[in-house]
Amino acid sequence: MSTKITVRGAHKVFSTKKGDVDVLDGVDLDVMEGEFLVIVGPSGCGKSTLLNCMAGFELVTSGSIRIDGAEVREPSRKRVFVFQEAGIFPWFSVWDNIGFGLGNLPFEEKHEIVMRYIRLVGLEGFEKAFPSELSGGMKQRVEFARALAVEPDVLYLDEPFGALDALTRLGMRSEIIRIWRETKKTCILVTHDVEEAVELADRIAVMTKRPATVHSVLQNDLPRPRDPDHPGFRALKDKIFGILGVER
Ligand SMILES: Nc1ncnc2c1ncn2[C@@H]1O[C@H](COP(=O)(O)OP(=O)(O)OP(=O)(O)O)[C@@H](O)[C@H]1O
Ligand SMILES: [Mg+2]
Repeated sequence: MSTKITVRGAHKVFSTKKGDVDVLDGVDLDVMEGEFLVIVGPSGCGKSTLLNCMAGFELVTSGSIRIDGAEVREPSRKRVFVFQEAGIFPWFSVWDNIGFGLGNLPFEEKHEIVMRYIRLVGLEGFEKAFPSELSGGMKQRVEFARALAVEPDVLYLDEPFGALDALTRLGMRSEIIRIWRETKKTCILVTHDVEEAVELADRIAVMTKRPATVHSVLQNDLPRPRDPDHPGFRALKDKIFGILGVER
């Protein structure tokens, strides 16, 4: 596997009226092409900030972030964010939400792409529905389809299941793995849920408290689908809790 994203000595300082806030304090991280990397860390440590910098929504104060060797300076259609349900437009149908980012393609072409992603996320028959008619999990599927339809190389997922109930969240975890395997995108997901991290990730980057660095990157070779009762699953969870300094 080749390296897709390189983060080297990334520092991020926010200047506020109350003074400077040091958020990232020399983050080093490599993300491999096609891998599923999960970032975990304490609340407020800078996970979203790191993701925003990798996506080009924020610029690092010093250090560098490169994708395919090129410095990230601005957002790009090649790298998309999956938000919680807030990302979809309530006044657009499912079809229009997914087609929105595709610009002015001829209808036939656009329809083919939109329907491909509607099928991929399992929403056949709902293309004319409006978000208000959908469940939380279905809205999240629209959000995934909308992000994937522009055919990005990198998918950033910032706590994408946060708004879902526990049962739907479990279902969506296996869905995202299925979609990831079918589309072979590089996925970077942020969560504060250690179990979610172990279930999803090829590798897990554990961050320290703010100002944050990457404490360690753990390899996760447990076979999929993963069983939370497997001794290896528990051992990896305990290791992460240990790094985060949480007594269990
Ligand atoms: N635009 C900004 N201006 C000033 N401070 C900011 C800005 N964005 C984030 N911060 C600060 O940076 C720190 C890290 O925020 P960030 O949202 O990256 O953390 P996080 O790890 O994603 O937290 P959470 O787990 O709660 O989502 C916080 O102290 C926050 O107040
Ligand atoms: Mg966050």
